[in-house]
Amino acid sequence: MRPRDGARYDATSLLAFVLGRDAAWLLAHGDAPLSGVERARFEAAIARRARGEPVPYITGVAGFFGRTFAVDASVLVPRPETEDAVALALAATAAVAAPHYCDVGTGSGAIALTLALERPDATVTAIDVSPAALAIARRNARALGAEARVRFVLGDGLAAAPPAARFACIVANLPYVRTNDLARAPDPTSFEPRLALDGGADGLDAYRALVRDAVARGDDGTLVMEGGPDTARALADLAAGAFADARVETVRDLAGLERLVVVRRERRAPSENDVVP
Ligand SMILES: C[S@@+](CC[C@H](N)C(=O)[O-])C[C@H]1O[C@@H](n2cnc3c(N)ncnc32)[C@H](O)[C@@H]1O
Repeated sequence: MRPRDGARYDATSLLAFVLGRDAAWLLAHGDAPLSGVERARFEAAIARRARGEPVPYITGVAGFFGRTFAVDASVLVPRPETEDAVALALAATAAVAAPHYCDVGTGSGAIALTLALERPDATVTAIDVSPAALAIARRNARALGAEARVRFVLGDGLAAAPPAARFACIVANLPYVRTNDLARAPDPTSFEPRLALDGGADGLDAYRALVRDAVARGDDGTLVMEGGPDTARALADLAAGAFADARVETVRDLAGLERLVVVRRERRAPSENDVVP
């Protein structure tokens, strides 16, 4: 998208927000005058965007998988790429009755709540280390009618999940940006919480812990991890080295960049070399 198109789109979104209308109404009423209050609110919103702040932090909402999620500066703005992680988790568990999912690093709850809403027979454990993020996720669960089937856990990584739970699929979009690559203002990403982005020197700190804990748990379901174009390959190598008898694949996003790492832990078929007691 050309920058001018992006600016026009953002301005349209902000005007629609200020007027409490949608983009279709704006198109049909392009000559409607603004009141003084509306004009002042629109100019304030434009000024915030001009300083780099992402539109969803100004409007307080972001779209994900066809639903609207409340967001504020304590959570990452859910990304379209992450919808692919949800789609993979749903596909991997299509044949599983009443699946139990785990979303590690739930943020706004985008992944956890979408899984719960797309699979009305599912239960979900949603973990985040940030109390402020969990408050937003809980608010979204209430608004979207999913709170009865989503258990929120404040804690550090997969280790915070109930030990006895058996997950059909663990999904994680944990921080994966190398510390030296973190964006600076006015880049919109610089407005997002560092806790959601900073993956340490090689971008894999949070994922090293996740892979270690997933191996230790021994669930035999699927693990879906979102990485960045710069880190997905190393994340796949990390997973391949850690899981014996698992198929590890990377999945590209719409831009053709390696993005998702999928670990399929299938029960090993008996081999003729097995010792039969
Ligand atoms: C990249 S954001 C993803 C948010 C959401 N899942 C999404 O896809 O939009 C990462 C989230 O992981 C959380 N987080 C970071 N380190 C964590 C840890 N060690 N344990 C649990 N959550 C963590 C952050 O607070 C943040 O909400």
